[in-house]
Amino acid sequence: MKVLVTGSSQGIGRAIAERFLSQGHTVYGIDRQEGGIVSERYTHFQCDVRDREGLPELSGIEILINNAGTQNEDDIDINLKALIYITEKYGVQPAIRSILNIGSASAHTGAEFPEYCASKGGVLAYTKNVALRVARFGATCNSLDPGGVFTPLNECVTSDPELFAEIMNETPLRRWASSEEIADWAYFLTVTNKFCTGQSILVDGGESINFHFVWKED
Ligand SMILES: NC(=O)c1ccc[n+]([C@@H]2O[C@H](COP(=O)([O-])OP(=O)(O)OC[C@H]3O[C@@H](n4cnc5c(N)ncnc54)[C@H](O)[C@@H]3O)[C@@H](O)[C@H]2O)c1
Repeated sequence: MKVLVTGSSQGIGRAIAERFLSQGHTVYGIDRQEGGIVSERYTHFQCDVRDREGLPELSGIEILINNAGTQNEDDIDINLKALIYITEKYGVQPAIRSILNIGSASAHTGAEFPEYCASKGGVLAYTKNVALRVARFGATCNSLDPGGVFTPLNECVTSDPELFAEIMNETPLRRWASSEEIADWAYFLTVTNKFCTGQSILVDGGESINFHFVWKED
């Protein structure tokens, strides 16, 4: 299938692009950094997702993975508004089979930076809107909402043993995911899955169900 992945140069997006390539798909990547993937079935477009004029003309995309994202840097414009533009441009058309938006557990908890969690909350609602509109093509649209994942995005806390131990105390499964683990979910939700749509799938080690029950001892 023809797959478009944004933010494909590193982290989760790169793992997703490599997962699809390993299964024989044709992959297009859009990232503001240079592409590092070497494959005859991979085409890289170095472009900022906010740059509407710079986006490539691609037709017949069958799977769209909206992954490019940042924290504390124009988050609404990058994580939400560019994602909407890209989805309308490449995703809402008859060849589409599946759209997956990489959201975040913070859309559900309100945790992290204010504009970041608001941008991901917007992705949650927009996912449902798109799911209804692409259903007529027999396509699905979901969001995959990770908790902590080891990527360059959050190196500042994963490389600090004290801070990371504190984070582990807030994570019931006491670990973070790898990018490859998230890529497996992305593949399942876009290729295997054909009936779950308009949903947000939380893959967060229990981060979003963490709470402290306060009650009087007998
Ligand atoms: N790592 C985590 O713990 C975590 C948790 C929840 C959600 N997410 C989400 O997963 C997605 C990927 O995050 P990651 O951890 O792999 O981050 P990352 O920083 O490692 O990779 C993001 C990629 O997107 C690209 N990118 C960023 N802004 C761009 C722009 N304006 N135009 C084009 N390319 C751009 C970057 O160049 C980079 O290659 C993001 O949407 C992020 O919010 C990550």
